[in-house]
Amino acid sequence: MNLSQKLKKRTPHLQKYNHYKGIFHHHELEGEVSNRMVFKGKEYIVWCMNDYLGLMNNQEAKEIESETTLALGASYPHSCRTTFGHTKHHDHLEDELSKMMNREASFLFQLGYMGIFSMIDAITDRHDTIIYDQFVHACAIDGVRMHNGRKFAFKHNDVDHLRKQLINSRKYQKDELGTTIVIVDGVYSMHGDIAPLEEIVALKEEFDFSLIVDDSHGFGVFGDNGRGTPEYFEVEDEVDLYISTFTKSMGNIGAFVSGNQDLIEYIRYNTRSQIFSRVLPLAQVLSCIKKLEVFQAEPERREKLWNNIRHFQSGMRAAGISIGKTQSAVTPVVINGSVEDCLDILSQLREYDVFSYMVTYPVVPEGTSLIRMVPTYNHTKEDIRLTIEAFQKVKAKNPNAFLQHKPVIIQDFKNKIESKVESPLSTSVLRKRERA
Ligand SMILES: Cc1ncc(COP(=O)(O)O)c(C=O)c1O
Repeated sequence: MNLSQKLKKRTPHLQKYNHYKGIFHHHELEGEVSNRMVFKGKEYIVWCMNDYLGLMNNQEAKEIESETTLALGASYPHSCRTTFGHTKHHDHLEDELSKMMNREASFLFQLGYMGIFSMIDAITDRHDTIIYDQFVHACAIDGVRMHNGRKFAFKHNDVDHLRKQLINSRKYQKDELGTTIVIVDGVYSMHGDIAPLEEIVALKEEFDFSLIVDDSHGFGVFGDNGRGTPEYFEVEDEVDLYISTFTKSMGNIGAFVSGNQDLIEYIRYNTRSQIFSRVLPLAQVLSCIKKLEVFQAEPERREKLWNNIRHFQSGMRAAGISIGKTQSAVTPVVINGSVEDCLDILSQLREYDVFSYMVTYPVVPEGTSLIRMVPTYNHTKEDIRLTIEAFQKVKAKNPNAFLQHKPVIIQDFKNKIESKVESPLSTSVLRKRERA
């Protein structure tokens, strides 16, 4: 059997629906990216951008990008950082991020996906144990896939199960060469719930592990200063590596990781996707510097974002649309029915000029389809009103589609510990709250 014959036998989920091109995926965008966007000549209110703070179209940043591109080209400096792809501006952006995040050091990635999976590979070896939330982003999953030591998933946001997995990992830590790493997302990008970081870091009193938080959807959104979910939970000192992409609140491309000097220096010189691949272009670096400035100087952006989140989510709930247990901007509308049923709802919403996209397997567990709605700084009261009205009209035509959130399918984990273990967590968290 040759490769083509072999691959023809597979039915990859996304590819299976390729005749829904334009409804499900590969929408043809024209013009600007904003709260209103044009696809194939028609304008829609768009709800699938993660431009939380509305910085994507920042005029000053755009001018910086244009001037740099005119002078040096859009992809300058044409090499990887360790050879001749480095400039003082890359260092400057890292310094600004470290200052803002109150961290000793930071390191840039050209893309979050490449940076995160490769960083996980770089910092671990076969002696180490990785324990990760089952719903961490695909890039962390791929990092875990590359790991040739022990790896255990814990049930989503289930701190008792994490504790069991930590007990489980202890037996492998007799090996002096190994360490344990726990990986979570700050905000889960599909259902919008947040990691119980306060309880997770409380486990550090009992277990020896390092904590990595991918806070791509929390950076800029949570915390008084936008330092994300660890700032919100006041546990920043307990997060060993903090990661965020620039593609959400920064409205740009690229990503960063912050931590202590030793960890970041190790990551800088050992992350293969950064050593063997070209650097984040200068136009983007300078643009990020400008956007970070605005991000910090205009906290009212975060305030407006949260007003929009509250306004939109309470309106959807009042209209009887189930949006699950979101605690963030990510607003999942789970549709009862098949992928085709969900695509049909999506098409009906488009008739009312409301645009979003469907998320299905493999992004969420098999059997679940959801329409992911993301309010941002740029949305207007009118956008919100029209969209809720559109949902009401579509719901009236399809009453069963919006009934209830389907329960999320939890995988049956290998390595599950069956013995009952009393968790001291709730009491330790309570004690901490009492002290505060
Ligand atoms: C939680 C999370 N981590 C990482 C990434 C990857 O970031 P990038 O788009 O910079 O590759 C994303 C992007 O969607 C994300 O949602």
